[in-house]
Amino acid sequence: MSETEKAEVSRGLENVYIKATSLTYIDGERGILRYRGYDINDLANNATYEEVVHLMLYGELPNSEQLKRVKDVLNSSYEVPEDVLRVMEVLPKDSEPVALMEAGLAALATHEKEFKWKERDREKALEIIGKVSTITANVYRVKQGLTPRVPSPGESYAKSFLEATFSKSFTSQESSMMDKFLVLYADHEVPASTTAALVTASTLSDMYSCMVSAITALKGPLHGGAMEAAFRQFKEIGDPSKVDDWFERTIVKGGNRLMGFGHRVYRTYDPRGKIFKSMAEVAAQGEARKYLEIAEKLETLGVKHFESKKIYPNTDFYAGILMYGLGFPDFMFTPLFALSRTLGWLAHVVEYVDEQHRLIRPRALYVGPGKREFVPLNQRK
Ligand code: ACO
Repeated sequence: MSETEKAEVSRGLENVYIKATSLTYIDGERGILRYRGYDINDLANNATYEEVVHLMLYGELPNSEQLKRVKDVLNSSYEVPEDVLRVMEVLPKDSEPVALMEAGLAALATHEKEFKWKERDREKALEIIGKVSTITANVYRVKQGLTPRVPSPGESYAKSFLEATFSKSFTSQESSMMDKFLVLYADHEVPASTTAALVTASTLSDMYSCMVSAITALKGPLHGGAMEAAFRQFKEIGDPSKVDDWFERTIVKGGNRLMGFGHRVYRTYDPRGKIFKSMAEVAAQGEARKYLEIAEKLETLGVKHFESKKIYPNTDFYAGILMYGLGFPDFMFTPLFALSRTLGWLAHVVEYVDEQHRLIRPRALYVGPGKREFVPLNQRK
């Protein structure tokens, strides 16, 4: 028997371990998520995004001096070459938001002349995290026909981002919700987008290319696009009184997927989902309050209906309501996910290249015909 005859395909690479990591631990049965050993609840409640950035890139929560250093590098990295914003501005206003983000990053990459791994990887990652804030804010601004704007250096990455996006000031409570969003989405081991980034890093391509690979994989409705897809469900339902009928028609009889539910790893509630729900309860006013009521009714029906399959709300179910409550239209949800996950993508590629680099090159199990005789064109039927 040949090697390939013995091989088995792991559909969706389920339970395949492509790297070792000290970054993120997930216990999908018990609904536990930790970054470098710290429980996600502790981090979301007590640490700022900048502290988490230091934790993920440098291994430890920062002391005051280290935190200042992270903030200084982020603050000095918001500026991007003018042509990057011009590129985003001249593209069609109805471009896919994620495509605009890719264009911004690709434009930024043209300024990176001689990228070398292992020289200043963590510093570079910090600079990219700063610049991604500018690019994400301007996805919103370009799509709304507003003039581009660069975040101002300040105390908080989240606040600077919000204020650059909307050109208005935000309260410390609102900024803190944005900050928690950034912490909660910062990393999640190796989902499709991080795996795409790792494949690119494994060829020793540059960090911007890793980011573009990751973002394109993030976009789909089965991954990062699920926050928007979940929110659109709430909009489609339109009123809490219509939830039962919609669920019966669309999910039970229609056999469609309930977006914002289910996860490859969790077989219980996603711990991030619970934190988002409690924040959405605080942030959701007016229209957002109505969507929250719809989501809560849908959650009850979904949990009951999918109990035997162990399908529960994931992080995307309530996160969109929180972001909508902060003023973001739903087209911004995937770019916001990317803004936060930039940290995870870069921390994973740096960990991989620094500590365990090898070209990622899996195999495909050939199941086509055996050797066949070539038939010239004029003899084919
Ligand atoms: N609604 C209805 N049925 C579902 C759902 C769902 N949301 N999720 C899984 N299932 C069912 C499938 O139909 C399948 O049923 P079957 O065995 O009877 O055919 C079974 O559960 C297993 O589904 P798979 O797609 O094989 O499971 P997988 O682990 O690949 O799916 C995924 C994970 C893609 C996230 C899935 O749960 C899904 O499509 N969810 C909706 C989209 C979503 O919310 N994505 C966000 C994920 S989290 C994130 O990226 C941040």
